[in-house]
Amino acid sequence: MVTADAFNVSATAEDSNRDRYNMSGKIFVVDDEESMCNFMAIMLQKEGYEVEVSQSGRTAVDKIVSGGYDLVIADMMMPEMTGLELLTEVKATNPDQGFIVMTAFASVESAIEAMKLGASDYITKPFKIDEIKLIIDKVIFHNQIVDENKSLKKQLGKIENLEAFIGMSEPVLKLKELVKQVARVDSTVLLRGESGTGKDILTRAIHALSDRSSGPLITINCAAIPETLLESELFGHGKGAFTGAIRNKDGLFKVADGGTFFLDEIGNTSLAIQVKLLRVLEEKKITPVGETEQIPVDVRLICATNAELENDVDAGRFRADLFYRLNVIPIQIPPLRERIEDIPLLVDHFVESFCARHKLSGKIVLPEVYNFLAHYGWPGNVRELENTIERAVLMTKSDTLSSSSFPKRIIQGKPDGLVNNIDHKNPTLESIEKAYIHWVLEQTDGNKSKAARTLGIDASTLYRKLDKYKMGKEKVLK
Ligand SMILES: Nc1ncnc2c1ncn2[C@@H]1O[C@H](COP(=O)(O)OP(=O)(O)OP(=O)(O)O)[C@@H](O)[C@H]1O
Ligand SMILES: [Mg+2]
Repeated sequence: MVTADAFNVSATAEDSNRDRYNMSGKIFVVDDEESMCNFMAIMLQKEGYEVEVSQSGRTAVDKIVSGGYDLVIADMMMPEMTGLELLTEVKATNPDQGFIVMTAFASVESAIEAMKLGASDYITKPFKIDEIKLIIDKVIFHNQIVDENKSLKKQLGKIENLEAFIGMSEPVLKLKELVKQVARVDSTVLLRGESGTGKDILTRAIHALSDRSSGPLITINCAAIPETLLESELFGHGKGAFTGAIRNKDGLFKVADGGTFFLDEIGNTSLAIQVKLLRVLEEKKITPVGETEQIPVDVRLICATNAELENDVDAGRFRADLFYRLNVIPIQIPPLRERIEDIPLLVDHFVESFCARHKLSGKIVLPEVYNFLAHYGWPGNVRELENTIERAVLMTKSDTLSSSSFPKRIIQGKPDGLVNNIDHKNPTLESIEKAYIHWVLEQTDGNKSKAARTLGIDASTLYRKLDKYKMGKEKVLK
């Protein structure tokens, strides 16, 4: 039975966390009560899920087994086929299928039976929207993290060492040397670099080159998971710690025991989580949510950030003590524009691997291509170069990559001046405004009225800004 309460959607802190995460996935709801199916469909679609419903497990089972559903939510008491029977059939073929059972309060026993048979969780009817949302999020996030780590493990089989990190420039050779040394010692590493510079690749290399290589490498992106779930994912939870926590669950730190734990975008953790991380580093112990007893864990922590954590420390968003603990061995990965000698190597590598992946015969790269690719600023770093090459390979019918295979913006090196002029260490709004004014003046050959029009401001405002930023008149202005 659905109570009025269930329709009472309230805005919680969780909702705002959920906005940060791109919720998607396919959910199959099985309940013999039509009103329940309709309610769940509306509620879940509103949450961004694709939903299918069926009033009979018997009819639904083949479809569910054929796969592709991130989650099944099934009522326990159904006339043709009970939720338990449906669960058993589904799990026989898809042991990893996420499955939540719904049950009347009176039959919690059978829900526990369902958990023993492999259900991910249960909820008792009537429930509140917030309750079911939390349970669904938990199961879906958990499965996503498990999947992500499975695929990481597969990749790990292929990438054994630093060879996957292409580059022979001076800064890259130094970087590789540092990574090799660091991999051997067991201390915490902080990888710093703009987005797309290769922090993930280097993490895998550090793990593979370390004494922990036969242990697990667990990776979690702190920016992608709502805070309420992050804590129990990382540290686990005890029975009864919150609604739906009907048994103890190991956190990922426990799963990573004996291996390496990669915390990506560490700057996105809350102060509360930062305290717990500090304890992991100092005492090598974790405390599951809702528990008092500490559990010892043996993990090596690698953290990554593309932000200036020092600014977060100054602003009180990041604990200074944790920052200093993490920053014991900082590894700074230079942006691609500071190692353009590597571009030809990377281009050849990507052309070859995309031709192979898309089953195309090899393609020759004309010298003009290397030339303009070296002069484009690559704000998205190696990831942007990789995507650009994939697109060029797929769009070019002939066996030669020439300037006609690339977008004009890249050939003209558009973001170059703009990107290079931004102070990346301190990218304040002012520094970006200054770089942008400089770039527009370059584009207009120093013509201030034209520049002011492009900038959408009065010429007098432009003069004021030039004055304020003490921009060298002799250099850009005519
Ligand atoms: N030196 C390199 N050699 C080969 N491929 C690279 C190199 N650097 C990065 N890549 C490729 O570029 C893409 C982005 O790299 P990666 O995911 O490691 O970047 P990141 O620094 O973790 O970025 P983000 O901060 O956005 O998470 C990946 O597909 C990776 O394989
Ligand atoms: Mg990354």
